[in-house]
Amino acid sequence: MLSVIYYPIVFLALYPLYLIYVYFSNLLQAKRMNFPYVSVPLLVQNHPVWMVSGPMTRLWLKARLPTFLFNRIALSIYGYEFFEAREPFTNYVEPQHRADPNLIGSGKSYALVTSGRFEFHTWDAEIAREVAARPKDFCQFDIGNWVMGILGQNVLTTDGSEWARHRRIVAGAVTERVSSVVWNESIRQTRDFLTSITESSNDGSTKTESATTYRMFDLVKRIAVHVLYAAGMGNKIDFTLSENDITDPDDSDKKAGDTVKPSMHLSYIDAVKIINENIAGPNIIPNVILLNWPSWLPGAAWLRNVAYAKIEFPIHTRAALARERQIAAKTGERNNVMSALIAASERNEGATDAEKKSATKKGPALSDEEVVANLYIFTAAGFDTTTNTLAYALVLLCRHPKWQDWIIEEIDSLVPHVSNLNKLEYTEIFPNAPRLLSIMLETLRLFPAIIHLAKMTQAPQTITTASSGTFTIPAYTTIYINNVLLHSDPAVWRNLNMSDVERKAAADDEDDVDGDELAFRPARWLVPNSNEQKIWTPPKGTYLPWSAGPRVCPGQRMAQVEFVAVMFTLFSRHRLEPVRKQTTVQNSGLKAGVEGLGTMSEKKEVLVPESDQALNERLEALMASSQPKLTLEMDVYDIKEDGSDRGLGLRWVRRR
Ligand code: HEM
Ligand SMILES: *[C@@H]1O[C@H](CO)[C@@H](O)[C@H](O)[C@H]1NC(C)=O
Ligand SMILES: *[C@@H]1O[C@H](CO)[C@@H](O)[C@H](O)[C@H]1NC(C)=O
Repeated sequence: MLSVIYYPIVFLALYPLYLIYVYFSNLLQAKRMNFPYVSVPLLVQNHPVWMVSGPMTRLWLKARLPTFLFNRIALSIYGYEFFEAREPFTNYVEPQHRADPNLIGSGKSYALVTSGRFEFHTWDAEIAREVAARPKDFCQFDIGNWVMGILGQNVLTTDGSEWARHRRIVAGAVTERVSSVVWNESIRQTRDFLTSITESSNDGSTKTESATTYRMFDLVKRIAVHVLYAAGMGNKIDFTLSENDITDPDDSDKKAGDTVKPSMHLSYIDAVKIINENIAGPNIIPNVILLNWPSWLPGAAWLRNVAYAKIEFPIHTRAALARERQIAAKTGERNNVMSALIAASERNEGATDAEKKSATKKGPALSDEEVVANLYIFTAAGFDTTTNTLAYALVLLCRHPKWQDWIIEEIDSLVPHVSNLNKLEYTEIFPNAPRLLSIMLETLRLFPAIIHLAKMTQAPQTITTASSGTFTIPAYTTIYINNVLLHSDPAVWRNLNMSDVERKAAADDEDDVDGDELAFRPARWLVPNSNEQKIWTPPKGTYLPWSAGPRVCPGQRMAQVEFVAVMFTLFSRHRLEPVRKQTTVQNSGLKAGVEGLGTMSEKKEVLVPESDQALNERLEALMASSQPKLTLEMDVYDIKEDGSDRGLGLRWVRRR
C-alpha cells in the first residue's frame, strides 16, 4: 500500500534531478564542440507534445513572456526556422563569436543545450552538403520515422541496407512514363477546374470573361489528389466527379473495387485525405483508443474516421494492387507508380549479383505490405509538398503580378495559337518552359515546404570543412539543417544573374527594400545567353528543398512536372487577380475624386475596394502567418464558397 504513494514521490523527486543531469551533460558536449551554444535549461524540446503545442501557443507566449525568456524558448518551437529567421543568430550566435574569436562555425551553426536531446542547428552549406552525402552516418530522425511509419516501414523511414532495398525499387518506379501520365493528368484536371469555375462563377454578366473562387486552394488540393490517383494507381477521376465515377475505359471491373464496400466507411481518396490531414497528430494514437473514444466527448466522430482511414487505406491499396496485377497480366506493364513498383520489385531492379545471391528469400524485393507502405509514403510525401508549393506560387504571383507577364510571354511563345492548347506534349513543353520551372524554384527558395532537414547520429561523426576545420558531432545528436536561412544567404543569392541595368532598377524598386535575396525574383534562376543549360545550378548544399545526396527526394521530377503543367494550363488563357475586399469609408462629400456619390453636403458611408497597399499588406500577412504543419502552409484551406473571412479570393480573368 505504501508503494502507491512512495514510488510516485520518488519519481517526482528524481525527475527534476534527471533533467538537471541531462542538461549538464549536454552543456559539457557543447563546450567540447567549441561552437557557439544556446542553453534553455529544463526544456525537453523534442517532445512530441511540445512539437505540436509549441507552434500553436507561440504568439500567446510571445505576448506574455519577458523577451529574454521568449527568445530562448522560441528556439525550441517547431518551425522556428521560419518564424525567427535570422534572429537566433543575431541574438545569440554572433555575440559569442565576437566575445570569443576561438569559437568555430563562422556564425552559421550552434548547439542547442536543453534537457532533451543534444541538438546541432546549422545553415552552413558545407556541413549541409556533408550531412546529406553521408546517410549512413546521419540517419533519419526517429520521431519523423514514427510519424511516417504508421502503415509500415518504407523508403522514408528506413536506414542502411533496408533503405537501399526500398530505395532501389522506389527510384525504379518513378520513370519518365509516369512523368508523362502526371503531365497529361495535371493538364486535364486543371482544364476541367477552369471550365467548372467558369460555369459556376458568380460574376453575373461577365461570366465568360472572368471567374471567381474563394476555394482556389482547396481546389488545387483536389487537382493534386486526382493527379496522384492517376499517377499512383492508374485510376482517373474527372475533376468535378467523385471517386465513384471512375472514367478509365480500359478497365471495366475497376468500379467495384473503388466504391465504398458495404463493410467499409471511407473511399480511397477520403482515407488518403484524412490520413494526410492528421499525420502530425491523431494518426499516432493507437486505433483502440481512436475507436473507443467516448461518443459524448468532443471529436469522437473525427477520431473514429482517423481510425477507419488507417484501417481502410491498406485494404483499398491491397485491392488495387491485386487488380493491377490482373490488368498487367492481360495488357502488359502500365504507366503508373503502382504497376512500376510491382514490376521493379519482381525484377529486383538495381540489385547487384551478389545481392541477388545473398537474398535470403526468393521472390520480389518488396513484400506486398512494403509496396503498400511505400505507396502510402508517396501520398504523404508528395501531396502536401506539391499542393503548398502551388499555393505559395499563386499568392506570390498575385503579390508580384509583373512575373505573370513574364510567364505568359513564355506560354504564348510556346503555344501562339489557342487552338493548339489542346495538344500539349510533355516532351515538347516541359523542357522548354524554364520560366515556369523557375517560378517553382523561387517559390521553394522562399517558402521551402520542408523548412528543415532533421538527421540523427548513432555514433560520433567527424566532419571537415574549410571554414571550421575538423570537428566531431557527438552520438545521439539531432542535426537540423535550416533551409530558410540556407536559401536566403546573401553570399549565394543576392543580385544573382542580374545585369547592371536590372541592379539599378532593383535598387529603386520598393519590393526589394530588404535585400535582393529576400525578394521574389524568379529570373535569378535563368542563366543568361545560354543555349544548353537554361536553369542555374546552385553550389552544392546551398539549395535543399528536395534535400540532396543519395536520399534526395525521388519525387522531385514528378513534382516539377505537375507544377509546370498546372501553371501552364492556368495561365494559358487567363490572368490571376486577388479579389479585393470592400471597405467602408465615410464620404464627407467635400473630398473630391469619388464621382457621383452623394451630394456635396451630405455625409455618406460608401464601399470602396481596398487599396493596392492594403491588398499587398494582406497578401504579405497571409504568407507571413504560415504554420509548419506536415509542411509549411498558409491558412487557405477548408474555405466556404461564399468567401468567409479566411483565405484569399482569386479571380481568373480571360486574356485570350
Ligand atoms: C515540391 C514537392 C516536394 C518537396 C519539396 C519534397 C521534399 C522532400 C525532401 C526535403 C525529402 C528529404 C526528407 C529527408 O531526408 O528528411 C524528400 C524525400 C522523399 N520524397 Fe519528396 N518532396 C516533394 C515531392 C515529392 C513527391 C511528388 C513524391 C512522390 C511521388 C515524393 C516522395 C518522396 C520520398 C519517397 C522521399 C524519401 C526518400 C528517401 O528517404 O530515400 N516527394 N522529399
Ligand atoms: C499524353 O497525351 C498525349 C496527347 O495529348 C499522348 O500523345 C500521350 O500518349 C499521352 N501520354 C500518356 C502516358 O498517356
Ligand atoms: C549567372 O549564372 C552563371 C552560372 O550559371 C554565371 O556563370 C554567370 O556569371 C551569372 N551571371 C551574372 C550576371 O551573375
